Amino acid sequence: MKNFYLTTAIDYVNGSPHLGHAYEKVLSDVIARFRRLMGDSVWFLTGTDEHGQKVQQTARKQGVEPQAFVDKISAEFVDLCAKLNISNDDFIRTTEPRHKKVVAEVLQKLFEKGEIYRGEYKGFYSTRQEQFLQDKDRNPDGSWPEIFGEVTEITESNYFFKLRQYQDWLVQFIQENEDFIFPKYRAKQVLEFLKEPLNDLCISRPRERLEWGIPLPFDSGYVTYVWFDALLNYYSAVADKPGVWPATVHVIGKDILVPPHAVYWPIMLKAAGLPPPKSILAHGWWSINGSKMSKSTGNFVDAIEYADKYGADSLRYFLIREMSVGQDSDFSHAQFLVRYTSELANNLGNLVNRTLNMTNRFAGGKVPTVEAEETAEAELKSLWDRTRDEVIALHEGYQFHTALERILSFVTATNAYIELRAPWKLGKSAEPRDQALLRTALATMAEALRLTAASLAAVMPSTTQKIQEVLGHSAAPAWRDELRWGNRLAGNQVATSAILFPRLVEPKPEAKC
Ligand code: ME8
Ligand code: MG
Repeated sequence: MKNFYLTTAIDYVNGSPHLGHAYEKVLSDVIARFRRLMGDSVWFLTGTDEHGQKVQQTARKQGVEPQAFVDKISAEFVDLCAKLNISNDDFIRTTEPRHKKVVAEVLQKLFEKGEIYRGEYKGFYSTRQEQFLQDKDRNPDGSWPEIFGEVTEITESNYFFKLRQYQDWLVQFIQENEDFIFPKYRAKQVLEFLKEPLNDLCISRPRERLEWGIPLPFDSGYVTYVWFDALLNYYSAVADKPGVWPATVHVIGKDILVPPHAVYWPIMLKAAGLPPPKSILAHGWWSINGSKMSKSTGNFVDAIEYADKYGADSLRYFLIREMSVGQDSDFSHAQFLVRYTSELANNLGNLVNRTLNMTNRFAGGKVPTVEAEETAEAELKSLWDRTRDEVIALHEGYQFHTALERILSFVTATNAYIELRAPWKLGKSAEPRDQALLRTALATMAEALRLTAASLAAVMPSTTQKIQEVLGHSAAPAWRDELRWGNRLAGNQVATSAILFPRLVEPKPEAKC
């Protein structure tokens, strides 16, 4: 059994979950479920990132203690995971003692090894926002935006982590480990960033400026910089679980690849004497109706609302079908409805309904045995064999959107096969040959449905389970076996009906007359 340790980014709790968070969790969940189906021993971690300036400020504005504030928002992320049927094994919060303890230990160790030193930090500081500013914060004309109030250049004593001394090591590591970053083209972006000499990383904030953080174990006048704290969650969550570290894959969005995950994190681990993660998967960004998601303009999608209204599996299907991992995508309600209606309800849902209806109508609800296999059956079977091999390979390569496309094509082919055999006509004939063909057709469509359901298990786990239930089937323990065509349902009693994707009653556009 292979160990497979998978993580998501931990979400900031300064705002409620949105579609980007939902996507990242679903994508990671698909990977986790797929690896489990392949027999790996999976550990799947997600969680929340709870320290830092923004949280302290937001809590203060709302007049609540930071802890009470983060408890509330973190619970929303836990609920989101439950709602989306995310199969995480653990949920870490950076305010938990188990995390703080490990962060303090790692910092102490690095300090004793001489990887951390005290120095002067010079920069432009906004007292109103209580933060250091960067050149990218300036207006195009070089002035500082109004929201920062008065900006002054100040010098502050801080602690620095020696990044620069590991720069050459990191460049070589990335060049030698082609699979470290997915998609591969993003490695170029990292190497480009590493062409410039790295600055050492300021990892402390004075207590007077920021209280909401993990105290430095060697100087209680400071708390830890939030990224240094947050990245360590991946390790702190499994520090007491032998054999889990290193991570097999960190799933993150493209905005936090460079520098935090691809530069700071491997260097932090290297300096601490820990092995680097095996890989990082950087996914793209969702926009909504063509523009950036934003709560203030109302341009956002409430993932929970979609899951409630259309079912978690429908949302999971759409997110995975629509986005090619690594690329950006646009979420449009119209496109969601098209896929829901034509792919889920009218194609997959139709296959389920027809199979149950006809098995009941022509065989007393009992799946018959194959008796008269002819070309049409042989063709469907060989299409399945190809589909199955592709689906497994596409899952291995994170090409889930194409895997779903192939599976739905197989569903289309199965529906076409049913049209061709037309059991409703065969049922009217008393000819023994027609009767044998009818039984064969019923057995074949049931088997095709069983295989379809199995192949959707990583993306649509509840749908898979429901279809298996109505077919009176329990899946084989090994996925590869379950995915083999084998007329396994002969003799099973099927349910009379199942509604998987209810027809939508959407408000119609107003009639013009
Ligand atoms: O970055 N589309 O937290 P976060 C797709 N706490 N993904 C999106 C997205 C969008 N529109 N918006 C955000 C943080 N994401 C840090 C991480 S990890 C040690 C610390 C993704 O709440 C984003 O790319 O801003 C990131 O991977 C995740 O949601 C959390 O973002
Ligand atoms: Mg963000």
